Amino acid sequence: MLDIHIEEHDIDRQLRADVALGLAAEPKWLPPKWFYDARGSELFEEITRLPEYYPTRAERAILTERAAEIALLTEAKTLVELGSGSSEKTRLLLDAFQRRGTLGAFVPLDVSRTALAEAVAALTADYPELSVRGVVGDMIDDLRHLPDGDNRVVAFLGGTIGNLVPSERAMFLSALRAVLGEGEWLLVGTDLVKDPAVLVPAYDDAAGVTAAFNHNVLHVVNQRLDADFDVDAFAHVAVWDPAQEWIEMRLRATTAQRVHVKALDLTVEFAAGEDLRTEISAKFRREGVEAELAASGFALRHWWTDPQGLFAVSLAQAVTV
Ligand code: SAH
Ligand code: TRP
Repeated sequence: MLDIHIEEHDIDRQLRADVALGLAAEPKWLPPKWFYDARGSELFEEITRLPEYYPTRAERAILTERAAEIALLTEAKTLVELGSGSSEKTRLLLDAFQRRGTLGAFVPLDVSRTALAEAVAALTADYPELSVRGVVGDMIDDLRHLPDGDNRVVAFLGGTIGNLVPSERAMFLSALRAVLGEGEWLLVGTDLVKDPAVLVPAYDDAAGVTAAFNHNVLHVVNQRLDADFDVDAFAHVAVWDPAQEWIEMRLRATTAQRVHVKALDLTVEFAAGEDLRTEISAKFRREGVEAELAASGFALRHWWTDPQGLFAVSLAQAVTV
């Protein structure tokens, strides 16, 4: 079953506002949630299978090792997943929770209707005893639509929290804390700071899948807002910012160009070499994760990494400060 909390016209209104704001800004930027139309979600799934993209494999290794322990510690009755995508790794948790016999419901939430519908159909078939209710929505704006309950575990996997800038992360974590009761749980995956020689290729793979994914945001704007971005005239750029400790994804205009966004009656000039910023992917250290969680009312209970120390999964508990 799918609950739709953002209707097409709301999505349209948000996209218009974001594009108007971002393309008028200096430097220009677009928010990452617009990557994920049907094609964007497919490209992301392809990214997760790339040899260079280690986060999915590392997080899966951690969940494989720790799922039973997570089930034992939390005794979850409801598992909520934010930015759930295909929920592929989440099956490790569902299996472990079912073995403990505590879990009754799974509620995946994602902005991508197509990815969510596919995941919900597959999960409903594979987990007949579980109530599976997908929520099409925004992981910040629609938190209030999460199901009531106690002993909920909110999973936020894939390092997606790193796609928010620090101020957005603080807002997100506080909003999440506000809808949880004391003692409820947050399970969050974070990619870790490491050698840029490993980091950068994960966002700039040899096969060009990440480049296609990055370019997809221009296709989305072209389609939805009747814009005329010449997609091939932008180059995919991924740079490591050592001061902020994040990867920044950009689209660089290879020549000077003028783009018209018909639905907004907006004309935007790009200089040759000018960047459009599309996404950050922040990398973390344990102290930073623990401090950000604590600042929003979550106590870090467990910190697990894969054998190579590439990625971390944190189990945190809502506390009153
Ligand atoms: N959790 C999956 C997918 C990660 S990709 C994994 O670990 O592999 C990020 C997911 O978050 C995508 O499915 C995308 O559609 C979703 N997403 C991005 N921004 C969102 C937002 N603002 N609200 C809800 N979902 C969002
Ligand atoms: N959450 C993923 C990450 O930060 C999203 C992602 C992977 C991504 N590859 C990307 C976003 C390339 C934009 C471009 O790793």
